[in-house]
Amino acid sequence: MQKSEMKIIRTAGELSQQVRAWKADGHRVGLVPTMGALHHGHLSLVEAIAAKADKIIVSIYVNPTQFGEGEDLSAYPRDEAADCKALMTTPCDLIYAPSSDEMYPDGYATTPLVPELTHILEGLARPGHFDGVATVVTKLFAQSDADIAIFGEKDYQQLALIRRFVRDLNLPVEIMGGKLIRESDGLAASSRNRYLNVAERQLAGKLNGILLQAIDSLHAGLCIKDAESEAENKLLAAGFAAVDYVSVCDCESLQALTQLDRPARLLAVARIGKVRLLDNMPVPAFK
Ligand code: PAJ
Repeated sequence: MQKSEMKIIRTAGELSQQVRAWKADGHRVGLVPTMGALHHGHLSLVEAIAAKADKIIVSIYVNPTQFGEGEDLSAYPRDEAADCKALMTTPCDLIYAPSSDEMYPDGYATTPLVPELTHILEGLARPGHFDGVATVVTKLFAQSDADIAIFGEKDYQQLALIRRFVRDLNLPVEIMGGKLIRESDGLAASSRNRYLNVAERQLAGKLNGILLQAIDSLHAGLCIKDAESEAENKLLAAGFAAVDYVSVCDCESLQALTQLDRPARLLAVARIGKVRLLDNMPVPAFK
C-alpha cells in the first residue's frame, strides 16, 4: 500500500530515539545504506530486507570520504524529493538523511582499515574509496543500532569488505547480500548508466553477455588466465574504451585464483568514455 508521506530524520540523536522506541516495542530494525539517486536496484534491497526486519531505515547520504581525487562529489546526482517518492512504494519506514556536519564534525579522525580487501580490484582505480566506505558504514551501524543491514551484490567488493570488518570487529549487526538487479539486456542497474548516450548504452549491454561467455569458456576447460584475456579482448573488440580488470577471485577474500578449486566470483570493470561499468557473477562449480 502506498504511504501518504515519508518520515525523514536528519540527526543521529533523533534516529537513536526512534530506534530505541521501536526496539522497546520488540521490533527488529533493518538498515539500507544508500547515496540516493535511487533506482530499482536500490528499491529491491528495501523489499528484500523486509523479509527479515519489522522496521526499515533507508539512509541517504552522499559520503564525501569515499570520493577520490578527480571524482566529482558535487556532480553526484541528488534528488531527495524523487527518492522519497520512490520509497513511498516500498516497505521503508524512515529515511535517515544526515548532513556532513552531523556525520563528520570538525576534527573527525578515525577510519577502520581492511588493507587486504582495499588495495585490489576497485581499490586500485579508486585509492581511499573503501576506507571512506568502511568509515561511513561503521558510523551508520553505530548511529542506527540496526539488527540487520543489506548491501547489493552489484558492489561485490564493498559487500565483501563490509562482511569482513563486521566479523573482525564483532559489530553486532547481521549483513545480508542483495541480488544484483539488471536491466532487460543484462546491464547492472546503476546511477552511472544515466551518463551513457544511446549508442553507449547499447554497447554497455554487451558487458554481461561477454562475461557469461567467459564462464562458458571456463566450463569448456579454458584456464582462468586465458578466459580472462579472451573476455578482455572481446570487450575491447566490441568497442569498450578500456578494461580495468576481468578477474576470477576467491568469493570471500577476493584474491585472484589460478584454479577453480573453491567458490569463485568473476568480477569485471569496463569503461565507456569516463564511465566505469561494474559487473560480477558467481562462477558455478564445474564437476
Ligand atoms: P549506492 O551506490 O547508492 O548503493 C547503495 C546500495 O545499493 C549498495 O549496497 C549497492 O550495492 C546497492 N545497489 C546499487 N545498484 C544495485 C543493483 N543494480 N542491484 C542490487 N543492488 C544495487 O554503495 C553505496 O551507495 C555506498 O558506498 C554506501 C554503502 C551507501 C556507503 O556510502
